[in-house]
Amino acid sequence: MNEDKLMGLVHQAVGDFGSILTGALVVLGDRLGLYRHLADAGRPLTSAELATAAGCAERYVREWLNGQAASGYVTYVDGRYALDEEQATAFTDESSSACVIGGFQAMLAATRAIDPLTEQFRTGHGLGWHEHHDDLFRGVERFFRPGYLASLTTSWIPALEGVEDKLRTGAKVADVGCGHGASTIIMARAYPKSTFTGFDYHAPSIDAARKAAVEAGVADRVSFEVASAKEYPGTGYDLVGFFDCLHDMGDPAGAARHVLTSLAPDGTWLIVEPFANDDTAGNLNPIGRVFYSVSTLVCTPASLSQEVGTALGAQAGETRLRDVVTAGGFTRFRRAAETPFNLVLEARP
Ligand SMILES: C[S@@+](CC[C@H](N)C(=O)[O-])C[C@H]1O[C@@H](n2cnc3c(N)ncnc32)[C@H](O)[C@@H]1O
Repeated sequence: MNEDKLMGLVHQAVGDFGSILTGALVVLGDRLGLYRHLADAGRPLTSAELATAAGCAERYVREWLNGQAASGYVTYVDGRYALDEEQATAFTDESSSACVIGGFQAMLAATRAIDPLTEQFRTGHGLGWHEHHDDLFRGVERFFRPGYLASLTTSWIPALEGVEDKLRTGAKVADVGCGHGASTIIMARAYPKSTFTGFDYHAPSIDAARKAAVEAGVADRVSFEVASAKEYPGTGYDLVGFFDCLHDMGDPAGAARHVLTSLAPDGTWLIVEPFANDDTAGNLNPIGRVFYSVSTLVCTPASLSQEVGTALGAQAGETRLRDVVTAGGFTRFRRAAETPFNLVLEARP
């Protein structure tokens, strides 16, 4: 027995206990507006002042603040608490790609699946996306939107062959597996001459996307319909986007075949997937840890719950994704761009 190695594991585990519990506290603080009130105050607050501002009980707020200060998410000085500029950005600024609040909401929601999954691990049956806690749907939207704002129309679409010009002059676009429509609405705002339809099999997400389009003032050019990736209507699309959803589908090759029939002859299929290397060993790092874990709780069971049940997982990697896309009949496939979190893939007929 290597005692140092053992103590190293124990220390790591203590940090992980803190991560699990802090995740729940972050979601509480977001729900109750505690970060927002701290940021808005513009000066350090006592726990009583924050409790009054947020309409909460002081004793709970004090305990929460001390936990947050121990996490380094809130700054504690002389009995008062504040968010410094970086903490305020990470916990309150949803326009920043550094905002982590949606990530906490989504990850905590994912952990709620452990009870049904205990049985599914034994049977091999799936657990549908729609069977998760509501916070997963809203959290994923809030988690991904800042990244889409930072990259989608500024670097990912410009990296595709000839697509930006088409969108500027007026193109027909489908966003499949659109969830709450974050990517659809960002594209619609950037390309006012184009029309967009978002499709998702999850009806409550489509309802949320419709509301978001009205709030964003783009509902005249953006519509949302309940439809699966293998059955969505329409043909002649210049661009079909799949944002972080291909690996969640039971039959991604079947979806690829349908995309091909729906595209214009010179159309483009944009597939954004979690970043992954092809080999497992290449993904054994902090980002792979998050992606493999969420894939175990959400993505793999989602695919297993649908027909075929390919279960690509969130760390499929480019080679495996290429196999799926070419099995669907596409002849051209390339990595158009990447970020530390995303592979941006372009497929053409
Ligand atoms: C991780 S979420 C991504 C949502 C959205 N694209 C985004 O980036 O915010 C995966 C989405 O795929 C949808 N989905 C899963 N299987 C589907 C299928 N077979 N057809 C259509 N949508 C599907 C889910 O309902 C969910 O909204």
